[in-house]
Amino acid sequence: MPLDIIIGAQWGDEGKGRLTDLLASESDLVARFSGGDNAGHTVAVGAQQFRLHLVPSGIIQPHTICLLGSGMVINPVTLLAEIEHLNRLGLDISPARLKLSGAAHITIPAHIELDGIEDRLRGGQGLGTTRRGIGPSYTDKASRHGIRAGDMRDPSSFSDKIRARMHASAHLLESLYGHPCPDPEKTAAEYGEYAERLRPYLADVGGLIGRALEDDKRVLAEGAQGTLLDLDHGTYPYVTSSSPTTAGALQGLGVGPRHIRRIIGVTKAFQTRVGEGPFPTEVFGEDAVRLRGTGDNPWDEFGTTTGRPRRCGWLDAVLLRYAVRVNSFTELAITKLDILSAVQPLLICGSYAAEGQQFRDLPDTAASVERFTPVYEEQIGWNDNIWDAHFWGDLPPAAQQYIHQIEQLTGIKVKLISVGPEREQVIRRESLV
Ligand code: IMP
Repeated sequence: MPLDIIIGAQWGDEGKGRLTDLLASESDLVARFSGGDNAGHTVAVGAQQFRLHLVPSGIIQPHTICLLGSGMVINPVTLLAEIEHLNRLGLDISPARLKLSGAAHITIPAHIELDGIEDRLRGGQGLGTTRRGIGPSYTDKASRHGIRAGDMRDPSSFSDKIRARMHASAHLLESLYGHPCPDPEKTAAEYGEYAERLRPYLADVGGLIGRALEDDKRVLAEGAQGTLLDLDHGTYPYVTSSSPTTAGALQGLGVGPRHIRRIIGVTKAFQTRVGEGPFPTEVFGEDAVRLRGTGDNPWDEFGTTTGRPRRCGWLDAVLLRYAVRVNSFTELAITKLDILSAVQPLLICGSYAAEGQQFRDLPDTAASVERFTPVYEEQIGWNDNIWDAHFWGDLPPAAQQYIHQIEQLTGIKVKLISVGPEREQVIRRESLV
């Protein structure tokens, strides 16, 4: 005991990485459980910016052991580059500190080609994927054609499996889509080398977590993406191909719910989304630029993985309540409250309207949100810069009121509030342990 879980409450990019970094200071093990290198987590420590795609953000704390769970899909090229990058920044990323589940699936170059071409072929209905081969990797997993990280234990047979899968994908790419496939022989040889280098990182991640929990160690599960991108519960089909929710955390790590202590839902103080799909509270023009920034600052709303400008809008409490229900959040963490300084007035969507009716809660799955019009509650904002607020009492009354309003609309307590990009710019409303 205990297991704490950090989950994105929106469409990803909520700032989970920096909260993981914060909570990792009080954890022994930190584990990612879903997705792949479509995720991008940025943690600022002084002048250093750590940009992570696969390795858990908990790695920045020197005492943690970090795990890549069975629910993930791993591109070995990205993982090896990230290990090198972090080593260069002075972190110890040895196999003693980073462990990869043998049941995680491997992304191959054909998956990346298929991702791009299949999204393009959707025409106007493209999802705007990150083009990292995530969908095709999970497709191979579900159709039982996948190659797993554990296959790297024998690099030679791993290489043979990669060659065979690349040939099968080449057939699909060339005959169905008329698209060239990367060379299977070359890929097989390269992946054989990656296996040699990644083999020492392989471990029984589920077993490690199970034993750690029995031994009373503290385990932190770090979500990637967000609830509204969940394959089952998100804004389908504009979702990712994994389960970034509480249930996905357990499934993607190989543990049951008995040890769960907290489930922390992370939400921005407003709403953002990258890629296509419905977004009821989206704003445009000047309003969007005020929330997004112009791209001059590292914290402006531009994708860590793709560099795409994020779509921005007002906080949607209907969808937040939905995320509370899907995940059983025990508390909320609000990020980027500082971005709302000097935004007047502030709007929060408290309910939806459609066909002459008003809905406080989503009457259907999140896939149905397109047909609703947001009904806003308006509040006076604050003009002060809040970067120096260390305690709840340092926040202007209007900022406190905004947080109270979120608590009242969701029915749960906001325990963490980030007020700036630096590691220490987080207000804790009470001790976390
Ligand atoms: P995929 O995960 O690359 O297949 O992309 C599917 C959808 O999820 C697209 O709209 C992406 O923009 C979105 N997405 C995937 N990963 C992230 C993330 O880490 N943050 C925000 N959006 C994401």
